[in-house]
Amino acid sequence: MDTSARIHPAEPARVTLAHLPTGGHWLRERWGGVPVWLKRDDHTGGELSGNKIRKLEYLLAEAQAQGATYVLTCGGEQSNHARATALAAARLGMRSLLILRTDNPRVPPALTGNITLDVMAGADLRWISYAQWRDRDQLLAQEAERLQQRGERPYVIPEGGSNALGTWGYLRAMHELVQQLDAAQVPRPATIVYACGSGGTGAGLVLGAKLLRLPERGLSVAGINVCDDRDYFVRKIAGICAEVEARWQLGANVTEADIDMIDGHVGLGYAKSRPEELATLRRVGQREGVVLDPVYTGKAFHGMVTELSRAPRRFGEAVCFVHTGGIFGLLAGGVNVLG
Ligand SMILES: Cc1ncc(COP(=O)(O)O)c(C=O)c1O
Repeated sequence: MDTSARIHPAEPARVTLAHLPTGGHWLRERWGGVPVWLKRDDHTGGELSGNKIRKLEYLLAEAQAQGATYVLTCGGEQSNHARATALAAARLGMRSLLILRTDNPRVPPALTGNITLDVMAGADLRWISYAQWRDRDQLLAQEAERLQQRGERPYVIPEGGSNALGTWGYLRAMHELVQQLDAAQVPRPATIVYACGSGGTGAGLVLGAKLLRLPERGLSVAGINVCDDRDYFVRKIAGICAEVEARWQLGANVTEADIDMIDGHVGLGYAKSRPEELATLRRVGQREGVVLDPVYTGKAFHGMVTELSRAPRRFGEAVCFVHTGGIFGLLAGGVNVLG
């Protein structure tokens, strides 16, 4: 596949950060008797791995075009998006500032997992509480203002890189994926399942499916939310798709009815694991040599196999699971993978 070709006449500029196309393969184990094809977006790079890099290719191209010197974003303390943003910004010669949510901002967490990499990328870290998180967009704007007064040119990326521009990352990924699924041996997966955390990956996949008329070819997309709930993400994804339409008029006309979001697998809450989720994580590691993370891919994969155990044909004859990365969160400490 020619990964430099434009996918649409309206496609915005992008900078190459990810190693594309990422591969994919069948898992050895069938769940509920159903074969699972794994799309390896955890292999978009090394330190820059996971789904966020696809979004950053567009976001940081815009930052560069605006002459940005500083990139600002926010996330949870072990945010994969914040880490990828800091490293990608450094790679492109820009500084970064990360607003990170933690239990007690006066006692910042230890240097583990993604935080270690944030520091390696030279990011300025600002710690905020869960209560302050509600004002994250305002806090980002205030930090941007402060940097501007110092003569810097700030570029702000919202939580998860999940805005209209970042959505092009998974709109492009869908073009890549559909070619791979067409080539996958029979049975061809009928559903693409992904972990939903801030909606940008989902928005790109849903838009891509609609534009490529995949439902008419028997291929659908289903998200499994790892936080919040179904209604929140259906509204959020529909909102991002509407922003894309307003800016680029793609004519996809995504409505809430096009968005399949499977709720009921958040369990104990965001970044909190139940023993059965960790058992699935270990089983996949032991039987497949594939490492899922507890916060996103592991929780969503466990949700998918739970659905399959209840209704083996829920996703058709075969299913594609998008591995969106997150390994550094697993290495953050505090997660006892033995359950
Ligand atoms: C590893 C991983 N998978 C999935 C997601 C969810 O993607 P999105 O934020 O686009 O919904 C995230 C981030 O939130 C992530 O870090």
